Amino acid sequence: MNKKYKQPWPTKAAMAQVYDKNLWGKGEDLFYSGEGSHLKYIVKPYVDNVRFFLKSFKLPVSVCDLGCGDFNIGKHLVDFTSEYIAVDIVDNLINYNKEKFKFKNLSFLSLDIAKDDLPKADCVFIRQVLQHLSNKEVEAVVKKLYRYKYIILTEHLPVEDFEPNIDIISGQGIRLKKKSGINLLAPPFNLEVKSEKQLVSVNLNDNKGVLVTTLYQLF
Ligand SMILES: C[S@@+](CC[C@H](N)C(=O)[O-])C[C@H]1O[C@@H](n2cnc3c(N)ncnc32)[C@H](O)[C@@H]1O
Repeated sequence: MNKKYKQPWPTKAAMAQVYDKNLWGKGEDLFYSGEGSHLKYIVKPYVDNVRFFLKSFKLPVSVCDLGCGDFNIGKHLVDFTSEYIAVDIVDNLINYNKEKFKFKNLSFLSLDIAKDDLPKADCVFIRQVLQHLSNKEVEAVVKKLYRYKYIILTEHLPVEDFEPNIDIISGQGIRLKKKSGINLLAPPFNLEVKSEKQLVSVNLNDNKGVLVTTLYQLF
């Protein structure tokens, strides 16, 4: 890592570098959060299912989107919420999103979800974020999830049975390379939930694993 991306804030620097160097690929826009945020066969089932969940409430719920990325996903969901707070660790991405996406009930915040206090909301979305973080950082996030009633978590997992939560260094890569993936209910995270329901699962082309979205209710 060169000087520009050096310590003392390694995850922030690593994520900034991912966007600067297009390490998750390149789209038409300045920032690109990867195929998982753009390919129709992946995005549509997710958006359809999450919209269905959001529409199941008599009164719209408030949402906090942790690691919102380029917001190609979030932009399809804002209209179904009372308030939508989208946060990401990359400052210039957040500044760009603020200019690009204007909804009355939408705000963007530059935050490190492992280190900073998280905004209040009824429901939290965490989509393809924890898969990039070390166990220490995931643990720090998990402690803060108990304030939310609903968690909609999306993780990129191996297709076969796997040993969960093998540690990685935070950054561009994910646990798939170690034939592992995140399971928040398993050690060392042991998230305690009232209920768990798989909302959607998409097998990625070329045997690249599966994207699983789970709804947890916490209280
Ligand atoms: C693969 S992208 C997914 C973006 C979006 N959730 C989606 O599904 O389209 C992961 C995002 O998580 C953000 N991220 C990673 N670590 C973070 C942290 N500690 N705090 C806030 N955002 C973080 C990255 O900057 C990146 O934008």
